[in-house]
Amino acid sequence: MRWKKRYDGLAEKYEGSIKANDYTDKTSCRAICQLLGRMLSNYRGKRIFDIGCGNGLFSSSFGYEGLVYGMDISYYMLIYAKAKGLECLQGNALEIPIKKNAIDITISSGMVQYLRQKELSICLKELWRVTIRGGLIIVITLNGDSILRKLLSLAGKYVKFNFETAFSVDDVIMQCDALDIEVTEVIFFSPLWIWSRTRKLRMLEKLMCLSFCVVGRKN
Ligand SMILES: C[S@@+](CC[C@H](N)C(=O)[O-])C[C@H]1O[C@@H](n2cnc3c(N)ncnc32)[C@H](O)[C@@H]1O
Repeated sequence: MRWKKRYDGLAEKYEGSIKANDYTDKTSCRAICQLLGRMLSNYRGKRIFDIGCGNGLFSSSFGYEGLVYGMDISYYMLIYAKAKGLECLQGNALEIPIKKNAIDITISSGMVQYLRQKELSICLKELWRVTIRGGLIIVITLNGDSILRKLLSLAGKYVKFNFETAFSVDDVIMQCDALDIEVTEVIFFSPLWIWSRTRKLRMLEKLMCLSFCVVGRKN
């Protein structure tokens, strides 16, 4: 709940624009949308659930043909998400107000970094609960291991960020393993590179990329 006020304020100020979603790295944002668009073009007609959807800019820009549900803690964000065609509901990612096994593809982009360390497992368990067996779970977040992000932050290039809540890719993979979510792909993003790996991660990628995307399948 501590982020609700901030995002209500950003929605009131910046409405449906990329600024309201608080992106500091627009290049990575565009790259992530394009990549998800390609990935999801194989899943036409499936139910997609975007958790922490913000003003809907993200899921409305990967060009998915089908129903996209969006959930956010901020009511004001949802006004703009609805205007972009998302079916919206207000709720907390730690207690998703829908029944289990209701969704084919669950996505959370740029949201888990607002959780406390101990809340990550609760949130992933919720994503797991609402997704059908065999469905996809996609988590995109800031890279807590990134030396580049820390340097840019010190240089004042990026907003100051509490690194205790920027998770490492290993944190996310470990929690997925515990829930029997089979991690099929990890994609690292920086303004200059995109690296995709199945599971063997290299130190350089972990240290240099600003954000990452973990793609898993619920077994
Ligand atoms: C950085 S924005 C990302 C928006 C969008 N997913 C995107 O990638 O453009 C983070 C969003 O997560 C929402 N949020 C933060 N904590 C949340 C929670 N516990 N449950 C649901 N939404 C949350 C915020 O209100 C905000 O709209």
